[in-house]
Amino acid sequence: MLADFSGKHFKLYVDRARRILDGNWTGSYTKPSPSLYPHQWNWDSGFIAIGYSHYNQDRAQQEVLSLFKGQWHNGMVPQIVFNPEALGNYFPEPDFWQVPAGRMTSGITMPPLHAIACLQIFRNARDGEKARSFLAYMYPKLLASHRYFYRYRDPDKNGLAYIRHPWESGLDNSPAWDSPLKQIEIDKNKLPSYQRKDLAKGVPADQRPSDDDYDRYVFLVDLFRRAGYEEEAIRRECPFLVREVLLNSILCRADRDLEDIGRVIGQDVGEVRSWGDQTAKSISRELWCDEHGRFEDFDLVNGEFIHVPTAAGFSPLFGAAASAEQAKTLYGIADSIAFCALNQGHCFTIPNYDMTQDDFDPKNYWRGPVWININWMLAKGLKEYDFVTKADLMEKDIMQLPMRFGFHEYFDSTSGQGYGSEEFSWTAALFLDLIYSYYDRDRDVYEWFPPGRSQGHIAVKVLNQTDGADIVQNASAEDIMDSIRGIAREFHDADRARINYGTLKRSVQYRSYCELASQLCGFSPESLTTREEKLAFWINIYNAMVIHAIIEFGVASSLREIPDFYEVAAYRIGDFTFSLDDIEHGILRANSVPPGKSNQRFGTGDKRLPFSLDSVDPRIHFALGCGVRSRSPFAHYETDRINEQLDRASTDFVNSAEVIVLPEKDAVYLSQIFLWYRNDFNGISGIRDFLVRYLKREDIATFLVQNFARIEIEYLFFDWSLDH
Ligand code: GLC
Repeated sequence: MLADFSGKHFKLYVDRARRILDGNWTGSYTKPSPSLYPHQWNWDSGFIAIGYSHYNQDRAQQEVLSLFKGQWHNGMVPQIVFNPEALGNYFPEPDFWQVPAGRMTSGITMPPLHAIACLQIFRNARDGEKARSFLAYMYPKLLASHRYFYRYRDPDKNGLAYIRHPWESGLDNSPAWDSPLKQIEIDKNKLPSYQRKDLAKGVPADQRPSDDDYDRYVFLVDLFRRAGYEEEAIRRECPFLVREVLLNSILCRADRDLEDIGRVIGQDVGEVRSWGDQTAKSISRELWCDEHGRFEDFDLVNGEFIHVPTAAGFSPLFGAAASAEQAKTLYGIADSIAFCALNQGHCFTIPNYDMTQDDFDPKNYWRGPVWININWMLAKGLKEYDFVTKADLMEKDIMQLPMRFGFHEYFDSTSGQGYGSEEFSWTAALFLDLIYSYYDRDRDVYEWFPPGRSQGHIAVKVLNQTDGADIVQNASAEDIMDSIRGIAREFHDADRARINYGTLKRSVQYRSYCELASQLCGFSPESLTTREEKLAFWINIYNAMVIHAIIEFGVASSLREIPDFYEVAAYRIGDFTFSLDDIEHGILRANSVPPGKSNQRFGTGDKRLPFSLDSVDPRIHFALGCGVRSRSPFAHYETDRINEQLDRASTDFVNSAEVIVLPEKDAVYLSQIFLWYRNDFNGISGIRDFLVRYLKREDIATFLVQNFARIEIEYLFFDWSLDH
């Protein structure tokens, strides 16, 4: 069943992703992007077909069929199949490649994703018979394409194929290719003359490969054509031969899927199975570098590992080729600061290159940005090894990137900003794959909806209960907030970019905190008189209680793990019990109706009613930390400075990635906080005024003043995962 996208903001994004694919569709294949890449690319078409498979089977099949029209007699599926009508806009084109038989293709290949795509097309098909015939038609072609790797690219017959050009990896200027490319001596006089075309497409040069890289790309192409594309002749001379982790891992997974395809159509799959078995075994044994404890590409020219930590090193998870122990080690690396601590650091998903390396560059193509396809594979790989929660979080992050920053080719791994080509096909297609798959499954298991609701009665858990001992002292809310933040800082694991709650919970410091919090039982909230005092007290208590509850409930990654989190967690303060919701809606929001509910938080006669503030200050929404990524970080509030601090919190939030205004696209994306609490802001015009008041950029503020009433606001995913 196809999903019904009733959630408004999801529908808009789904429509946008589909429109991008429609725009790049040429009638027989989909361009990777509107102008930078006008022809058909090999692995792009695999990712794109996977996206189509959910809602347009015909196109999914045509996409694959079109690419395979370019398949060579030796089985090789070329990296590019050129469109004769689009020539003149890309370099190198057929006049430069000069491949045999005048084919309109390049003379290299790419990671073989198509068995994976074809199996998915079949699995998502509504017309099973048609899809089965498609598989039957494709099977011999796919078989030939895999055999090509084992026959021509695996001279040692150990199941590992080599690449002979950086473009064959799909990771054109990956830092892994620096040292093998340096081994190539370039004599400029002998290099055929050529002109790059990529830089004329509006992408800044510092986000693209360098001219030196291009000289070497061209040198290799020239070598291939001089060797008449004879593999043995090429192998004898080629100074760039690399057994690559990524290509072999994809080949390995594709072997497994090809085996399944063979079974569906009743073929003997013995040969395919032995390919997959051997490749898996060799990846695990031959591409694992003991010295560094990770998978690395292997340079066949100098017989050494290429010691460069890129995200491609995680791909044996996707290929299901890593041993359980290797998988655990990889998980540890992916979960360290080097790769963003799996969503927990201040970046989005996994960057393509270790962030701690000196030459890490968050903007430059394959040298640091985040790529959707690599992360999509990694999330699948993590699931393969049962790291399911992390994989779910990653998938959510992958979806967030295009929703927040547009459907770009790649994204800045620290700010999320989109780079390279806009309206990039595989970004749209893999976004669609994730969102359709997500709707197909039980949405309750997902992390980015509000904490689930338990059925029936909610048992409040008082976190600062004492066992009847007399409370003699009065702790101040500021002390409490300071104390818990101090502990949180102390237990911050710098390598993992997050708090180690497990160790924290067992610590002496935490026990002292609990004692301090228990003193609140002796505090009289009646003693708070001014509005400023009340605001600072309740905000501090709320934030401290969130951290306390995260520790006490053992939240691992997301508040979604604890049903009714905000209703369950409570403190005893004086003679009363206050849950987080009581503080937020009953007190700070002046006894308002919580989102999704129909009654005010405190009923008439509730003894806590006198503590309610008499009106709502919408700035509180940016002071309540909540501990989740889509809200403000925790801070300590002081009675004397509360106004200034609330302004500061609002400024920070309004100028963060939770408020995105793009005049050039006529688009405004807002955090769902503005949707849930629009009445606190006095409706839509109040939201506009609030934004204008705090936005730092005047041009954006002016745009909002002039256009806000007209523009249909879109709301961003709300991210419930822990922000530290
Ligand atoms: C670039 C990318 C490659 C991609 C191609 C078309 O060359 O490095 O992975 O297939 O563009 O999108």
